[in-house]
Amino acid sequence: MKIIKLNAIDSTNSFLKEMATNTSAENFTIVVAESQTNGRGQQDCVWLSEPFKNLTFSVYLSFRKFQIKHKKNLLFAVSLAVYEAIKEETELSISIKWPNDILSGNKKICGILIENSIQKDKIKHAVVGIGLNVNQTEFSKITSNVSSLKLLTRQNYDLDVLLKTIVSKLKIRIDQLACKEFEKLEEDYLKVLYKKNTPTMFKDRKGVLFMGLISGISKEGLLQIELEDETIKEFGIKEVSFV
Ligand code: BTN
Repeated sequence: MKIIKLNAIDSTNSFLKEMATNTSAENFTIVVAESQTNGRGQQDCVWLSEPFKNLTFSVYLSFRKFQIKHKKNLLFAVSLAVYEAIKEETELSISIKWPNDILSGNKKICGILIENSIQKDKIKHAVVGIGLNVNQTEFSKITSNVSSLKLLTRQNYDLDVLLKTIVSKLKIRIDQLACKEFEKLEEDYLKVLYKKNTPTMFKDRKGVLFMGLISGISKEGLLQIELEDETIKEFGIKEVSFV
């Protein structure tokens, strides 16, 4: 395992993606930055993180030795690893919000950006970016549903210890992927999924509110919601939001 520590970079995901295309990166190469000038989030959002206070890093995963059947399996493995590491280090009560945010109550403490390189319908490699709010205690007012480990537990955390725990949990979950334990991964993910089997208000892409129950994740990784008339509808990330 190779760890590259940087003071500042635009984005650890962009750095690692470029490195992987220019050289043959080793499996589990990790790039950690103390600060990012252009941190990227899901759906082309920016990821803001106070320098030196939080964990912002990316991991390169190679899928040359084994194949994963569906993209969602990687998403399950990564989210569960981060979830388990945070639980181990903090004992906080947390959940995974589909697809892969980590929440404490309804506050986001960690975001994950998985960028796959696909060839002939198969994932060749992936860059997994993780942004965990650790010791930051002030957030901009626009981001009201955000928190950090320190705000929630009133403790300071060692970033290197957290990184080590996340990476070791990730290795275990990636081994499960290699062993094709897809059902176990899905079962574990659904057990800790935010609002699973709880009547919840959602908003569709037109802004229309509706009640439903999260019932599962489709083969393609879509969120399955059981509606009031008991039909099940599937939604992509841009098609639904929690109210
Ligand atoms: C999200 O939108 O929730 C995903 C956020 C992912 C942020 C991390 S920070 C390290 C890595 N580098 C980036 O530019 N993004 C990811």
